Amino acid sequence: MGWLRRKQEQPKQESVQLTGRVRRPKRRKIMLQQRPIERHLDDPVVIAVANRKGGVGKTTTSVNMATTLARMGHPVLLVDMDSQGHSTSGLGVERSEIEGTILDVLLGLGTAEDVLLASDLPGLDLIPANVDLSRVNVELVEHPERELQLRSALAPIKDYYDFIFIDTPPSLGLLTVNSLVAADRVLIPLQCEYFALEGIKDLVGIIKVVSDNLNPDLRVEGILITMYERTPLSIEIADEVRDHFGRTVLRAAVPRDRRVAEAQSMGVPIATYDMGSNGSQAYIRAANELRRKYMR
Ligand SMILES: Nc1ncnc2c1ncn2[C@@H]1O[C@H](COP(=O)(O)OP(=O)(O)O)[C@@H](O)[C@H]1O
Ligand SMILES: [Mg+2]
Repeated sequence: MGWLRRKQEQPKQESVQLTGRVRRPKRRKIMLQQRPIERHLDDPVVIAVANRKGGVGKTTTSVNMATTLARMGHPVLLVDMDSQGHSTSGLGVERSEIEGTILDVLLGLGTAEDVLLASDLPGLDLIPANVDLSRVNVELVEHPERELQLRSALAPIKDYYDFIFIDTPPSLGLLTVNSLVAADRVLIPLQCEYFALEGIKDLVGIIKVVSDNLNPDLRVEGILITMYERTPLSIEIADEVRDHFGRTVLRAAVPRDRRVAEAQSMGVPIATYDMGSNGSQAYIRAANELRRKYMR
């Protein structure tokens, strides 16, 4: 791949930063062909985690569902489709460790396997993103198949995984559309606050457009209530959401738990940071609900 060659031709960088801190060694490249397929599901499931609103727990849910299911023994891939790169940093992958990103894949400059990184947790791989991803709209605008890029890129590697989670940005632009076209299911994190349902209405609209035109098999996997608090407002909105969407809403709700935010800022998923915490336990319940639907 051209871009890969270009990177390799660059002179090796100093491994010691000016601060004197020793950099972590580059993450191991993954050679999928040399890895046995260890799936526990008949078919891989690709789940886009989406909500037009920012700060509702998309990234936290992507990172923690992926981590929890990997801990349960499933081979899992997390695809970071947000230029904020919070899923990437949330798995502890540092900027200096990234050689290629999802942008290279979407632009056809590299394959998904070229940019795949192993996380610190066995069974969990990552396709990272960084701020460059914000260029994607400009660079792909004239591409005739711009909405299909992620789907085509994931096709050759899908069979190595039980679950592929795609963390999407807080917008309904090209990155989210690519994610919905690549996905079989959409998991919608919902924070119990005013206007929570408004953001979902738009999302449901775009899911319908995508399923009518580009991906007829796309379905809503579920709504996961996040940052739940025992306040009258939170309780009222959760009740309203459950009345309105019925069994689409997962029974597990993730409570607001400061350990979750702490873990995130340290680049460690809560499932690894503090397995006994309320947040972690809720993600275990949610992951069990989800995987039960797909187990043989
Ligand atoms: N259950 C939770 N308890 C406490 N803080 C949380 C919880 N879930 C997410 N957060 C925090 O809320 C903020 C927004 O979450 P994030 O997952 O980044 O949302 P999004 O990806 O939708 O923008 C982050 O700072 C995150 O650490
Ligand atoms: Mg996010």
